[in-house]
Amino acid sequence: MNVLRATRLVLWTAVALSLVGLAGLAGYHYLGRDSSPDETLRALDIGGPFEMVDTQGRTVTQDDLQGRPVLMFFGFTHCPDVCPTTLYEVSNWLDGLGEDAEELLAVFVTVDPERDTPEAMERYLRAFDPRIVGLTGTNEQMAEMAEAYRIYYRKVDLEGGGYTMDHTASVYLFDEDGGFFGTIDYHEAQDAAMAKLERLVAG
Ligand code: NI
Repeated sequence: MNVLRATRLVLWTAVALSLVGLAGLAGYHYLGRDSSPDETLRALDIGGPFEMVDTQGRTVTQDDLQGRPVLMFFGFTHCPDVCPTTLYEVSNWLDGLGEDAEELLAVFVTVDPERDTPEAMERYLRAFDPRIVGLTGTNEQMAEMAEAYRIYYRKVDLEGGGYTMDHTASVYLFDEDGGFFGTIDYHEAQDAAMAKLERLVAG
């Protein structure tokens, strides 16, 4: 094959690939118009059966989250940065909602149940905001819940001993029927986060 033919082949391949890409985008947009945002989010199928315990040792399952909007995030009490920041923000959001905060269930789920006993969770959350419900369990129970909620987490050994956890930092929102409502990302602007929460609580 000479250089010219090779160049033509490369160019035509690029054209063909971009056409496939455009068709894909068109299909994506078509699907996007066809279903409402709510249906699209629900289709993500985040959430599912779980069994954990709260900071008082009481069993909590998926059924206990039905009937009111839920804000949920995963983390661990030894987290140096992301979790304390998120807890602080959640507390501010609850303040921002005023009386409507009572309708919202804020849940913090540990990805480090080895260290995060109910007692440790209780102490930790009380220091931030007693309105936030803490969930822990056995490693197996936590793994099941993390899978149902599509949470990434990983234990990372530290040099010189000990460990930390990598984990998904997003805050998940669910409507009162348990349907996935959306996320609030780490460091999302306060007004954007409040707008989502007000929409969620307004149902
Ligand atoms: Ni964290």
